[in-house]
Amino acid sequence: MTENPILTEVADGVALITFNRPKALNALNRQLLDALSATLEGMATDGDIRVLVLTGAGEKAFVAGADITELARQTPLQTKLLSERGHDIFLKLEALPQPVIAAVNGFALGGGCEIALACDFIYASETAQFGLPEINLGLIPGYGGTQRLPRLIGRNLAKEMIFTGGMIPAGEALRIGLVNRVCSPESLMDTVMATARGMAAKGAVALRAAKQAVNQGLETDLNTGIRMEINQFAMTLLSGDAREGMSAFLEKRKPVFTGKLDD
Ligand code: CAA
Repeated sequence: MTENPILTEVADGVALITFNRPKALNALNRQLLDALSATLEGMATDGDIRVLVLTGAGEKAFVAGADITELARQTPLQTKLLSERGHDIFLKLEALPQPVIAAVNGFALGGGCEIALACDFIYASETAQFGLPEINLGLIPGYGGTQRLPRLIGRNLAKEMIFTGGMIPAGEALRIGLVNRVCSPESLMDTVMATARGMAAKGAVALRAAKQAVNQGLETDLNTGIRMEINQFAMTLLSGDAREGMSAFLEKRKPVFTGKLDD
């Protein structure tokens, strides 16, 4: 029987999604993309899931890119459809109402780097390597690398990575703002899960509104973004968790958030 290419575990409001094709360095084949798509669809509407964490099975790779064995067999039209499918899934990931952290435990190359870029932020192991090596295959990134990378690290650094196809180690990725934090391989998952659980314990309405305000605001001009923030801010004030958060502050106690979306 084929192993499930996506493993999921949910605890304390945090869903851990593991890419599970370690023998192929978790390369993204059609089966894995289908499973990821279905998993994200289910989680998007699950009010009990407050934060998602993505990581790769095994010690070597987060995801080493699109599956080259599969890619080599495609016609240009099939490749276009595959790229569109990948984009739909990565856009779905980026637009999830819940925050998503990428826990990059090894190679994050090509489509693997592009998945991490579609997450809200990245923590990496000291052993992680990032790159968009498609140029070495006579290709260009096809799952958002030419678009999300320059938006995150700036045009020229992104062009250098895309044009040379070189890999950069975690420390360098931290320096250029591609990753937020670098941890030892042994402490990566504990650190990521502690951050995720900390976020999951906040008011769920506020957490979602904060993500939407930043994401939508980045797609527009400052004035429109500010109008969006005003609306989101006013909307969060109506939530039960906002009432609890402010009462707790005034009563000099710790807040007890329910995380309910409809309270
Ligand atoms: N697709 C398919 N199989 C892959 C793969 C990929 N992207 N990356 C690694 N594998 C497989 C290897 O073929 C190998 O399989 P076998 O054991 O059956 O031979 C296994 O995983 C282990 O890999 P290596 O033996 O190559 O391991 P290594 O430590 O020597 O090298 C590596 C590791 C540098 C990551 C190397 O595997 C590599 O360069 N992989 C390809 C990376 C890449 O080019 N990614 C971009 C893909 S294209 C893309 O992603 C397009 C897009 O944007 C949509």
